[in-house]
Amino acid sequence: LNNGLAVTPQMGWNSWNFFACSISEDLIKETDDCWSAATRNLKGQLVPDPKTFPSGIKALSDYVHGKGLKLGIYGDAGAFTCQVRPGSLFHETGDAQLFADWGVDYLKYDNCFNLGIDPKKRYPPMRDALNATGRTIFYSICEWGVEDPALWARGVGNSWRTTDDINDTWASMTTIADINDKWASRAGPGGWNDPDMLEVGNGGMTYQEYRAHFSIWALMKAPLLIGCDVRNMTAETLEILSNKEVISVNQDSLGVQGRKVYVSGEANCLQVWAGPLSGNRLVVAFWNRCLKAATITARWEVLGLESSTNVSIRDLWQHKEVKENAVASFGAKVDSHDCHMYIFTPKTVAHSES
Ligand code: DGJ
Repeated sequence: LNNGLAVTPQMGWNSWNFFACSISEDLIKETDDCWSAATRNLKGQLVPDPKTFPSGIKALSDYVHGKGLKLGIYGDAGAFTCQVRPGSLFHETGDAQLFADWGVDYLKYDNCFNLGIDPKKRYPPMRDALNATGRTIFYSICEWGVEDPALWARGVGNSWRTTDDINDTWASMTTIADINDKWASRAGPGGWNDPDMLEVGNGGMTYQEYRAHFSIWALMKAPLLIGCDVRNMTAETLEILSNKEVISVNQDSLGVQGRKVYVSGEANCLQVWAGPLSGNRLVVAFWNRCLKAATITARWEVLGLESSTNVSIRDLWQHKEVKENAVASFGAKVDSHDCHMYIFTPKTVAHSES
């Protein structure tokens, strides 16, 4: 969507993955489903739940803005939200104006109770309504990949889901990564594929698995939306979520989604994922989805490099250069379910004038 936003993928925090409906103004700085009361008011407007958000959303947005952050809200392109609060279908103009008046900066727009109406008819009206408010609001389309939003949403929203909901398991995370990979060519500045929010820190995966989750989401230029209880993070969770080198890959100005470029091993469980970065660099991830530690090797040809190219390699989890002048290929031993992430910087070859 050409509204000046999403030049790089969105980053932030969302309450849903960990808290679901147990939210309140005291608890959170951003909201998902369940902020609203069960019914609209007599004027037909959405109302914050008076028990959990007694001060209203405007007060919450003032608070959040005071911290230098932006506020996201949740709505639904149907008759009800997934947790059966009022939906915004056919109320787009009024609801968008309310969000703008409250100082909302971001709308996540869900797909429940959609009355079987084509999403291509339900999502553009909210885009137009948001646009008409004059406030710049990030528009996150939460159609769960049912009608392939990657094919039609680029002119509608700033990101679109490519899959069903993530859950806090290795099986869910790997499946979602593979589905999102299929839509790589659709992502770019202004609009991103959304393989759903991060589960890092929620307890269902190991340190290695969460590191892989964060690495691959960053490489795929996915939204990096933290989904854990940030008040109670372990040192490991914090280390993963605050890895600046990995975050810079996600926020790189080139804005090209990296892809799975090479597989080997039983059931293709040894994988190389890679993509171009600004400054002629590449991001390369070695992802071991097998049950045992193994060596993963990337040959320059699978990365689109001439095999004579001289490459220096930096490891983004070890935070150090691991190889000065690699030529033709590079390999490393990767633990089961772990992921190494590197930046490859090809040396520019000086060539003589003829
Ligand atoms: C479905 C969405 O995909 C989830 O991310 C979450 O927003 C829930 N609905 C909320 O009900």
